Amino acid sequence: MDKHFYAAPMEGMTTWLWRQVHHRIFGGADKYFTPFLSPNATRTFQVKERREVACNEGLNVVPQLLTNDADYFVWAVKALEDMGYGEFNFNLGCPSGTVAAKHKGSGLLGYPDELKRCLDGIFDALPGRRISVKTRIGRHGDGEWPDLLAIFDRYPIHELIVHPRVGKDMYRGQARREVFAWTRRHTALPLVYNGDIWTAEDAAAWDVSVMTGRGLIADPALLRRAKGGAAAGRAELREYLGALADGYAAAVGEDAALHRMWELWLYLSGSFRGAEDALKKMRKCRRLADYRAIAEAVVDRCELVWE
Ligand SMILES: Cc1cc2nc3c(=O)[nH]c(=O)nc-3n(C[C@H](O)[C@H](O)[C@H](O)COP(=O)(O)O)c2cc1C
Repeated sequence: MDKHFYAAPMEGMTTWLWRQVHHRIFGGADKYFTPFLSPNATRTFQVKERREVACNEGLNVVPQLLTNDADYFVWAVKALEDMGYGEFNFNLGCPSGTVAAKHKGSGLLGYPDELKRCLDGIFDALPGRRISVKTRIGRHGDGEWPDLLAIFDRYPIHELIVHPRVGKDMYRGQARREVFAWTRRHTALPLVYNGDIWTAEDAAAWDVSVMTGRGLIADPALLRRAKGGAAAGRAELREYLGALADGYAAAVGEDAALHRMWELWLYLSGSFRGAEDALKKMRKCRRLADYRAIAEAVVDRCELVWE
């Protein structure tokens, strides 16, 4: 069995720009997944969604779709095929209350009959396509999981990416690795493990494919290191942060760029010791130039946890 290393989709963080910059500087991810696109009755992608799928030159990118309507999913797959994509991911994990209330993301897991109807519609209309599923293990409780897994088992799912939390958990507590171990004994579908992989050692230790989200934002070289490569160096981190700030400033303006960079630092800060005061100051910056000065000082002077 081949083991692969994937970068998780994270709305607002693993954008088209992040993927390009991350791949160029650190590499290590065998696949990147876009944050979810929401196909709907308009049968068009929004401008922001179009950018997510238009700017992936040279990368292995899987577009992710969030819907509970098979017809919209099928429309999106065909539109994306016309753009050259050959693999597609179905989001059954999003825990957001507004999404789940519409029976989408982890919300659809609470309605097994609707889920089956949706999967029937997708797989009937798209024979032979590489369609993966990214799922949580239930909406309210993990007692739902055996029946959900039995549903998934009926379809030729290319990869079943399992984040062993339930929708109601949001991101609290620990991913239930024991439920993933149970899953391995109860399905022949190709599995990918996702959830709370924070170190290269943990990513390397798994004997199935793994996907990492927050851990890869905290340590952008996590997957490279898991494959035996080098840890992130300060020059690389400077280049990474500079390219992201420049790219976002050009694409969405300085204010929005500041927000994007703060969000990355929520996790990246975990890789530095003694950066607390600088980070508080960073949160108060109103100009990108001020942010940059603080970020550069942290990268140059604070101790990296892997050093
Ligand atoms: C800010 C944020 C945005 C996310 N956006 C998405 C998304 O668009 N699609 C998706 O399937 N999962 C999304 N996720 C979930 C992650 O892909 C991943 O499943 C989750 O963070 C657990 O993995 P980790 O512990 O490696 O981060 C998001 C998570 C966070 C924290």
